[in-house]
Amino acid sequence: MAEQKEHVGMNKTGVQMAPLQTKAMLDDDKIITRAHPGDETQMAQLRASYIAEGEGLGSIPVPGTMKGMVSMGAHMLMGDQPQVLLDKMAERLAMERTATRLYDALLTKLDVVAQEVTTGKLSITRDDVASIRGDEARHALILRDAIESMGGDPTAMTPSADLVGVEAMGLVQVLNDPRTSLAQSLHAILTAELSDGVGWETLIALANENKQDELVREFSAALTQERKHQVMIQTWYDEAVGLTNGATAVVPGRQAGAGMPGSRH
Ligand SMILES: [Fe+2]
Ligand SMILES: [Fe+2]
Repeated sequence: MAEQKEHVGMNKTGVQMAPLQTKAMLDDDKIITRAHPGDETQMAQLRASYIAEGEGLGSIPVPGTMKGMVSMGAHMLMGDQPQVLLDKMAERLAMERTATRLYDALLTKLDVVAQEVTTGKLSITRDDVASIRGDEARHALILRDAIESMGGDPTAMTPSADLVGVEAMGLVQVLNDPRTSLAQSLHAILTAELSDGVGWETLIALANENKQDELVREFSAALTQERKHQVMIQTWYDEAVGLTNGATAVVPGRQAGAGMPGSRH
């Protein structure tokens, strides 16, 4: 695996690597007379037509059981929006499931660079990563049970579940790319954790509006864990990019301390 230290090498992607050709290209650009300079109008028009005809990312399924139908109907009669809550719970379930896989991939990567980690440069430990991975897997099970408790089908792909699945594709690619370093992998995981926190906040608010007090309690406990994950990952990421004192000293709002050796969530 490429180590996290970014090295100077034979990268030729920038124009400074070919000054003569760059000048020739820019000179040609001035000479070539284009009948139509062109802009993005036609592209936008084409996209607009597709958007106008778009049918959305699918639908939220009708409950497949009598109990589910009765439960959803009762909530709707009370003025609640159980379908929105079910869609967002399915979204969190999809993301927690993906997060579990992201941490599995991080554990694999960590095992390869274990030598570096044990030399004391980084405070990340296998136990801590495995513990976070366990949290994510438990969160997925909490959501599965929550969806079932409202009569929904936790195996259904709802529009929001589909959405986060696509959003997370890049993160999965980063973690499973054998070339990515520990720092680069942690960067992708930090992206997942940041979005996770916001996702749980929305879900808690929706559960509250749907008067699902037990779910609000369970989801709030999960959010507390997610916030700890975020601080730990931020700390490990700072260390992995070589920040000696972390970013907490100069960046307002950053929490210090979590993720350091011996700190557990
Ligand atoms: Fe999570
Ligand atoms: Fe997390």
